[in-house]
Amino acid sequence: MRRKLAAGNWKMNGLRSSLDELDALAKAHPDPDCDLLICPPATLIAAAVDRCQGGPLRIGGQTCHMNMEGPHTGDISAQMLRDVGATAVILGHSERRADHGESSEDVRTLAQMAQAAGLQTVICVGESQFQREATNTLDIIGAQLSLSIPDSSTGENLVVAYEPIWAIGTGQIPTADQIGEVHDFIRARLEQRFGYGVGKSVRLLYGGSVKADNAQEIFGISNVDGALVGGASLTAKDFSPIIEALEASALPADS
Ligand code: 13P
Repeated sequence: MRRKLAAGNWKMNGLRSSLDELDALAKAHPDPDCDLLICPPATLIAAAVDRCQGGPLRIGGQTCHMNMEGPHTGDISAQMLRDVGATAVILGHSERRADHGESSEDVRTLAQMAQAAGLQTVICVGESQFQREATNTLDIIGAQLSLSIPDSSTGENLVVAYEPIWAIGTGQIPTADQIGEVHDFIRARLEQRFGYGVGKSVRLLYGGSVKADNAQEIFGISNVDGALVGGASLTAKDFSPIIEALEASALPADS
């Protein structure tokens, strides 16, 4: 059984006062039926880890450098994230791919470093609007998967997030069939590459305009094991109902 995962990506949002939201989340979900991960900006990671000590929330980074240390002004390495208590890192987010020119090959190198440092890697894939209209979405996703995911991946250190670029921050959501098609495809590809056992145990998140009012439907789709949430993860008020929807989806149908 894959344990569900609700992950929040704060992107370049959050000041120290935002850490109060973590307290509120931990209070609202002291013993959740799913894993909870928040990835705040780098400036808040150490303080967030301290705040969340002993509670249900894990803290992660939003990217890392491909070297462990050295002359790379402004960058942060996987071992630094691990050192301050982060347990995970988002890699290959479309905003990193677009803003910083990260290729899938780069993402694989970052993921190798992060996994070697003991971090869980949340590797993002997703097509643009143009790609969805002009080509076969599954070809795009397939290429991103094979190039971005390192061989060192396991059911424990790999999470894959499907984030269609056109759905991020737009309020535009793919249909349930579209999400299901891509998630089933990702599952099949992982099983092919890593074997049935490992492929089955990797968690697959959907990301892109997940909100309280669409979460229940999204979490009912096959092979959706949780969500990577942007805007709606910034406050406990918005993120809590999404967590509740995920917890409800994790329970057997007759309970
Ligand atoms: P939104 O939930 O704000 O659409 O962002 C999704 C995302 O990019 C999460 O990584």
